[in-house]
Formats: sequence, structure tokens, C-alpha cells
Amino acid sequence: MADMKVKIAGVEFKNPVITASGCFGYGKEYDELYDISRLGGISLKGMTIAERLGNPPPRIAETPSGMLNSVGLQNPGFDTFVEEDMPFLRTKDTVLIANVAGSCLEDYCKIVEKVSDIDIDMIELNISCPNVKEGGVAFGVSCESAANVVKNVKRYAKKPLIVKLSPNVTDIASIAQAVEAEGADAVSLINTLLGMRIDINSRRPILKNNVGGLSGPAVFPVAVRMVWQVANKVNIPVIGMGGIEKPEDAIEMMMAGASAVQIGAAMFYDPYAPLKVIDGMEKWLDERDIASVNDIVSTVKPW
Ligand SMILES: Cc1cc2nc3c(=O)[nH]c(=O)nc-3n(C[C@H](O)[C@H](O)[C@H](O)COP(=O)(O)O)c2cc1C
Repeated sequence: MADMKVKIAGVEFKNPVITASGCFGYGKEYDELYDISRLGGISLKGMTIAERLGNPPPRIAETPSGMLNSVGLQNPGFDTFVEEDMPFLRTKDTVLIANVAGSCLEDYCKIVEKVSDIDIDMIELNISCPNVKEGGVAFGVSCESAANVVKNVKRYAKKPLIVKLSPNVTDIASIAQAVEAEGADAVSLINTLLGMRIDINSRRPILKNNVGGLSGPAVFPVAVRMVWQVANKVNIPVIGMGGIEKPEDAIEMMMAGASAVQIGAAMFYDPYAPLKVIDGMEKWLDERDIASVNDIVSTVKPW
């Protein structure tokens, strides 16, 4: 049986499959379907210091092979999460990644400081949410602002720091290099691609927020391209996501340069998708006598 273990920034995962932030809540609903300890890791719903109600509905729209969302980081806030969700989560044997966001530099520092003191394993810094006007994506779209937020939060981060990158940029590899230079321990990508739909009868945007983030299989080739570009430019591990739904997608993403993968939108139509990906990858490796899943990382051959 192939060895499915991967190590990212010193943290060991039993397999390289992580559920993506915002698509798995805090895990409780899914644990009613299967034991979520089978997952390599969980990137928890984006968290802020105070509760956020998110954007007004409609904030989800189906698109061909994907979805648009403008949820806007709805979450109960740090204190409620610690009280209501941490006790359950810590009974689970899986890597817990706190996905954090803020509206200003101080907020980012404060939430990173707070999550550093609870029993989570890693921090994923979301500087790429396209759905929050007053921050989020603004930090992730220039090398200077991305580097600056990482430099500042690094002083408070007592756990390995993954920086989640925005695809809504011209050159994602240069942003990855900028955050690596300021001490990011890993990068994850891609967050959603900014999109829009219009109801032609009412002539109104389908989302109340006008625009939203596109995810799901429609974005997969873009994500593979960006992971490949970033992996070729940085020396820290890359966590790849965007449109993964099948074992073959995860394998392709790892060949492009990802050391682990995250699965998001696919879980909305198949909550078992992460388990199918884990089992299917293992089978694929076994059929080819590949000893470890790590052996496929960055193995795409140049023409
Ligand atoms: C409904 C929804 C909510 C999301 N919320 C977050 C979030 O809170 N923090 C974050 O970093 N990414 C968030 N994302 C982005 C996903 O984690 C992921 O980066 C993106 O959807 C691409 O992966 P996918 O195509 O597998 O869904 C959200 C995505 C969706 C669809």
C-alpha cells in the first residue's frame, strides 16, 4: 500500500487531502456522514475576531461546472468558535487549520495572535477573499501589501503560517515569492476567481453583491496553471486547490507542484468527494507501484 503521508512546514498529514475553507463549516455536519478523522486535514471556515453575518442574499449562483458565491466570510467569531466547535474538533485525529481574515492589519494580527493560543495545528491567512469590500482581497493583490501583512502577522504566529493567494492578479508567482520572503511557511492557492452573472429578464445581477467568487471544476485548469507557476518559483510547500473533484484531479494538481490539495465546491454536490479522492489516489499509486504520494509531486515533465 502506498504511503499517503505528507509533511508541510513540519506538520504531518495522514494523507494529502484537506477540505477547503468555507465548504466544510467546522466539520460537524460532515461527521454525521463519515468519520472526519479520515481526512488529511480540515481548513476551517474563515474566522474573524467578531461575528460576521456576511453579505445579503442571494449570494450563491450555479454556473456551468461551478458556482459563484458572495457569502462574505459569515462566521460566528473567534470566541463562539472556541466555545462551540473546538471541543468537538479536538476529539478528531486530523490536522486542524484555522483560516483567518480581517478588515485591517490590526485585525489580522489580533486573530493570528488569538488562534495561535488555541489547540489548532496551522494557520491559513486568507488575503484573497473577493467578497469582502473593506479588506481581504486588497491585501492579496499586490506584492507590497501581501508582504506587509505577512511581515506583521509573523510576529504573532506561533503556528506554521500558510498564506492563501488570490488568483485575481496578473502575476501570482511574484506574490508567492513576496510572502515567502517575509516568512510564509507555505502557500495555498487558488481562492475564487471574481465573476458575475446577470438575470436577463430583470436585468439585475444574480448576486445581491453584484459580483462573487467562481469555484468548482470550471476553474481547475486555471488552478493547475497557477500552482505550476508558483511551485516553480518558491521553495516553500504549495497547497493546491480549485476545481478538484476526482482522484485524477488531485494527482494532476500534485504533479503540477502541490504537496497537498484542498477540495471545496465539489463537496456541495458530493459530500463524500474527499474520501473518494483519498481512496482513488491510493489505488492509482498502488496500481503503478509508486511507494509514496510524495513521489508524484512536481513530476510534470517539460516539453
Ligand atoms: C461558499 C464558499 C465559501 C468560501 N469561504 C472561504 C473562506 O471563508 N476562506 C477562504 O480562504 N476561502 C473560502 N472559499 C474558497 C475555497 O476555500 C477555495 O479556495 C475555492 O472555492 C476554490 O476551490 P474549489 O474550486 O475546490 O471550491 C470559499 C468558497 C466557497 C465556494
